[in-house]
Amino acid sequence: MMKVIVFAVTFTVATATFKPHHHHHFIPPGPGDSRSPCPALNALANHGYLPRNGLDWNATEVVQTLKDVYNVDPSLGSGLALAAVFLTGNTSTQSFSLGEYSGKEAVSGGIGLSHHNRIEHDASLSRADAFTGDNHSFNATMYCNLKRIAAKLNGGAFNTDVLSLHRFNQYQASKVNPDFTFGPIQWFLGYGEAALSLNVFGKNNTATAAAFDSFFAKERIPDDFIKNSIALTPKILFLSALEVYNKNPVPIQGIDTLPQKLDGSECFILKLIQGTFPDAAQDLINYIANNTGRDLPANCTVV
Ligand code: HEM
Repeated sequence: MMKVIVFAVTFTVATATFKPHHHHHFIPPGPGDSRSPCPALNALANHGYLPRNGLDWNATEVVQTLKDVYNVDPSLGSGLALAAVFLTGNTSTQSFSLGEYSGKEAVSGGIGLSHHNRIEHDASLSRADAFTGDNHSFNATMYCNLKRIAAKLNGGAFNTDVLSLHRFNQYQASKVNPDFTFGPIQWFLGYGEAALSLNVFGKNNTATAAAFDSFFAKERIPDDFIKNSIALTPKILFLSALEVYNKNPVPIQGIDTLPQKLDGSECFILKLIQGTFPDAAQDLINYIANNTGRDLPANCTVV
């Protein structure tokens, strides 16, 4: 009986770990393959879950793959994929491509995920600003800075304290960039990506050094990867992003002139709307109130 239990436990653990089908073995990109500033999408290409050349990824397939491989809830995955289609891809084919395109390819495949200030932004975790010339390749120096913070604050593992301080430092470093842009959209993206990394490659906002090294530096799904059993929803992601931000707040262009802690999602959405669409803010607030019955708070407490 004991043997049966041991076998059952071993079997369950063994089948739950990341065992890629041979079609999904890790193969680094070849000379003709396009890659993006997103380590998670690059990893999907490197494992062949989506076309390895990185071109013309269909949004519906992307959403399904994000769910199957990373357990990203489709409510979140479809928002990300549609943003990629509308901001960088081809709306008639509902697809987008990794990389940066111009000229002819732009007509069929869109302008590519690396295109600056669409989704790609300044003050990234492991990518230099577009101003320096390379906004898409993994930057080992920046990643080492992140690891150094992890070693100092958390014994080498990554959590919201570590990501928060690194994001803060990256923001400060980007101030020398004369084109530095960090408004509400970049807030969502920058802090959202920090939260994505912790919640997909870690659990409960904590990830091991080995998982991050594989994900960030090799763009390879860790060999012992087990996707989280609870799907990652926009709400979980948002609360995690807010935690990363609030530990070391920075000014958000168009919203704040001084660093402020944001005190709740409704307040943040209000500020986001006011910062992004100052002329239409009141109409949008009314629209939300009329259609959802939810009044956004008139005043937001600044902590
Ligand atoms: C359709 C889905 C997705 C799209 C279109 C997308 C797109 C992007 C883009 C364009 C960037 C570059 C931003 C920058 O300038 O730093 C980025 C960064 C990032 N993405 Fe994704 N992404 C997607 C899904 C995911 C998922 C599921 C994860 C989960 C781990 C993820 C993790 C990250 C991280 C950690 C970064 C920051 C890289 C860095 O700053 O060094 N992404 N993503």
